[in-house]
Amino acid sequence: MSEEHRLPAQTYQRIVLAARPRGQVAPENFRLETATLPTIDDLKINEVVIKNHYLSLDPYMRGRMSKAKSYAEPQALDQTMIGATAGQVVASRHADFLPGDYVSGMLGWTEMAIEDGAALRKVDAVILPLSVYLSVLGMPGVTAWYGIHRILQAKAGQTLVVSAAGGAVGSVVGQLAKLIGCRVVGIAGGEQKCAYIVDELGFDSCVDYKKFASEEELTDSLAAATPDGIDLLFENVGGRIFDASLARLNPYAKIALCGMIAGYSANSDNAQALKNSGKLLTMRATLQGFIVTEHMDVWPQALAELTELMVAKKLHYKEMIAQGLAAAPNAFIGLLSGKNLGKQLVRF
Ligand SMILES: NC(=O)c1ccc[n+]([C@@H]2O[C@H](COP(=O)([O-])OP(=O)(O)OC[C@H]3O[C@@H](n4cnc5c(N)ncnc54)[C@H](OP(=O)(O)O)[C@@H]3O)[C@@H](O)[C@H]2O)c1
Repeated sequence: MSEEHRLPAQTYQRIVLAARPRGQVAPENFRLETATLPTIDDLKINEVVIKNHYLSLDPYMRGRMSKAKSYAEPQALDQTMIGATAGQVVASRHADFLPGDYVSGMLGWTEMAIEDGAALRKVDAVILPLSVYLSVLGMPGVTAWYGIHRILQAKAGQTLVVSAAGGAVGSVVGQLAKLIGCRVVGIAGGEQKCAYIVDELGFDSCVDYKKFASEEELTDSLAAATPDGIDLLFENVGGRIFDASLARLNPYAKIALCGMIAGYSANSDNAQALKNSGKLLTMRATLQGFIVTEHMDVWPQALAELTELMVAKKLHYKEMIAQGLAAAPNAFIGLLSGKNLGKQLVRF
């Protein structure tokens, strides 16, 4: 091996799943560990050593912490927590990667990792900040793009409602729909989020669901914000928020069922109970659930279009950044209770 591949053995920190949560996630579900990189002399052909700078925290991680049947295998106990990262190559035995290159990958809650180059995406951190490859130009952005273009097939003049509208996915959904010419209404928790959604992201209106204790008040507020009903629904939350939107569906409405975060930490199926499910029938609605990582064929097109919009400054974004790997568990717990505005990241 040449000198450029040689690095001294070094330690780094990582966070493993220590115990599966029952209900709400708690700091005790995680364990911070110090690990040692295998000797770099042992790097296999095509392997790359990466120092991560950012970790993405995402709601799907809550599902992986559980053993319940889902679309993916559960996260293994005592193993590094799953997660998307963006960082820099420090050593490489892959022809396409050189030390200093910026990359994103699924390297997990860890400061450093060794990965096969085939599983890494080289990114341009000169044109745009490195962190956006975990938000607008990463999985959340592609999720928004897929729902808008492939499921809802949004058209100018339609009314679109999106829940968790101030978050990583919802904020892109609403902006893409505005660019198409839709009337866009967000649903989000709190005055600050609603102000951001309308004033900075340009949505037409925002319903702050936390202001309303009763279902009737929430439905009335959504009715006032959607006087022509809902043609397109991008659902990120489920439960009573989804239910309020169902009550406003127009004939032949389309629903992209992206997430049901209101139920991720619940022990009971009642967290997702719906009173207005009959509207799916009476309004002859089409509902499609989707998992964006099953549609890797669209990622190049989605990322190319999103990159163009970002470079043209037609998409805006916000980040909440927790400092240091040890801060990841509390930042993740905060995400699950709506403390984040925009994309929740950890920097180290
Ligand atoms: N299908 C897919 O392929 C796919 C891909 C990515 C994401 N998703 C889903 O999309 C949704 C949004 O993901 P994201 O990454 O953009 O997260 P995010 O919106 O940045 O953060 C989660 C947000 O969900 C809201 N929330 C949390 N707990 C809630 C509760 N009990 N009731 C109501 N709202 C709650 C909070 O916003 P408020 O303060 O506004 O309540 C919180 O800020 C999630 O459901 C996620 O699982 C699906």
